[in-house]
Amino acid sequence: ITFCLVENNGTPENSERLVALKNIFAKQLPKMPKEYIVRLVFDRRHRAVALCRGKLVIGGICYRPYPSQRFAEIAFCAIMATEQVKGYGTRLMNHLKEQAKREGLRYFLTYADNYAIGYFRKQGFSKTLGMPRAQWMGYIKDYDGAHLMECYVHPTINYLD
Ligand code: ACO
Repeated sequence: ITFCLVENNGTPENSERLVALKNIFAKQLPKMPKEYIVRLVFDRRHRAVALCRGKLVIGGICYRPYPSQRFAEIAFCAIMATEQVKGYGTRLMNHLKEQAKREGLRYFLTYADNYAIGYFRKQGFSKTLGMPRAQWMGYIKDYDGAHLMECYVHPTINYLD
């Protein structure tokens, strides 16, 4: 199992990984319009941490960092159906937290599905936002009735310990 940072930088290897991730997100998030998933996954402002077994991508998290605001929005997070509930989702999030530290980010925000709220809670996310509103207002959409969740990323905690 390896974890790698994937950007749409035109290399064939990354393009293949992004296609694989797009397919996993589309399958695991059937309520999301496919075009929307494609647009964000290949958008150059988005990045992903992919979980791979050999050359096979088995899951990943796609996120958009806002460096000036020191936070990232998690757009999509999914693990292939046959590989769920084996701890990979947790390991993936821990790797993303380490990547966030390297990028100087302090918070994650995400709109969690009903089902995924439990998963995000276990990863340290909460519906109570500690980040000042001014830090994210205008950067991400504020949907009514959606479950916006936040996670603080501590700069000196080692999430892989
Ligand atoms: N049923 C019950 N409990 C579950 C399930 C499930 N289907 N999935 C995860 N959990 C629990 C685990 O029991 C575990 O709890 P524990 O630490 O107390 O043992 C915890 O959640 C983490 O489990 P992992 O095995 O690390 O999680 P997994 O590898 O299954 O990944 C994920 C979780 C990403 C939510 C995966 O189930 C998935 O891809 N689901 C479908 C897509 C989805 O809903 N994505 C999130 C949408 S919101 C968004 O993308 C912004």
